Amino acid sequence: GLPEFVKIVEVGPRDGLQNEKVIVPTDIKIEFINRLSQTGLSVIEVTSFVSSRWVPQMADHTEVMKGIHQYPGVRYPVLTPNLQGFHRAVAAGATEISVFGAASESFSKKNINCSIEESMGKFEEVVKSARHMNIPARGYVSCALGCPYEGNITPQKVTEVSKRLYGMGCYEISLGDTIGVGTPGSMKRMLESVMKEVPPGALAVHCHDTYGQALANILTALQMGINVVDSAVSGLGGCPYAKGASGNVATEDLIYMLNGLGLNTGVNLYKVMEAGDFICKAVNKTTNSKVAQASFNA
Ligand code: HMG
Ligand code: MG
Repeated sequence: GLPEFVKIVEVGPRDGLQNEKVIVPTDIKIEFINRLSQTGLSVIEVTSFVSSRWVPQMADHTEVMKGIHQYPGVRYPVLTPNLQGFHRAVAAGATEISVFGAASESFSKKNINCSIEESMGKFEEVVKSARHMNIPARGYVSCALGCPYEGNITPQKVTEVSKRLYGMGCYEISLGDTIGVGTPGSMKRMLESVMKEVPPGALAVHCHDTYGQALANILTALQMGINVVDSAVSGLGGCPYAKGASGNVATEDLIYMLNGLGLNTGVNLYKVMEAGDFICKAVNKTTNSKVAQASFNA
């Protein structure tokens, strides 16, 4: 059966804005996050403490983290690939972090400049330090349904990396279809394998929509007992190290589907559409959300 409540993890300010060609001004990012904070969302991924040489779009991580208003009841995780990023994140006021690994050796090298095995060592240090400070750590597994460099990725490999991250203390593992090539078939096969090692209550799905399969893949995951879904307002998003990948599933479209299924999210669709309209105007693009397009044209 379907879960009664679905937790949405809004990744627009991070996954969305890391991939925009123009660098969004810091005050716009802050205003965007403050608006998202007033929609009922309970988790908003704010920024990444990565190298500004690698991802210049996230160079203002400290200013953004310090500049946002932290609303009660909302959590504001940030990406931290290593201890250096972790210490900077904590200094900026972060109280929740995510490490981000991959099920593909080539993607790991391109994205974070080390092998999967090396990355696990770095993540262990980060998660251990986080635990000492009572900071919850989430773990991503990129390329869970395919890799831009290697193509097919086996469910066994996704399971192995997920198990490692869960075992080192990540409270939630987000399975990323980084390039949006998955289908309900590959999602089902991958989840069946991962769920043998990590309980469904500790899993999330993170679907990019390149091939238009994201909502179908998410519905498949919900039917299998997953109740945490990542999405980005306006369908923003992509990864600089996954060329051709399009945005995440749009938060608006996800909420519309969940509302139609009678599943509670606690999030106000109209307010999310307004936040989406704000950021699209600021970065001068049209929304990728079908629901927002339909509503604003109505
Ligand atoms: P590196 O070059 O291997 O790092 O980068 P290093 O340890 O060899 O150090 C080299 C230099 O980088 C040094 O500076 C360090 O201080 C600096 P120098 O002495 O030469 O002046 N450095 C850092 N600076 C700032 N913050 C740090 C940091 N660490 C070292 N944390 C690193 C390794 C991971 C930093 C680099 O590869 C990087 O920044 N990669 C970017 C990764 C990224 O942000 N990718 C996009 C997010 S992942 C994603 O989008 C997928 C996801 O959405 C899920 C999905 O869709 O599947 C999550
Ligand atoms: Mg992503």
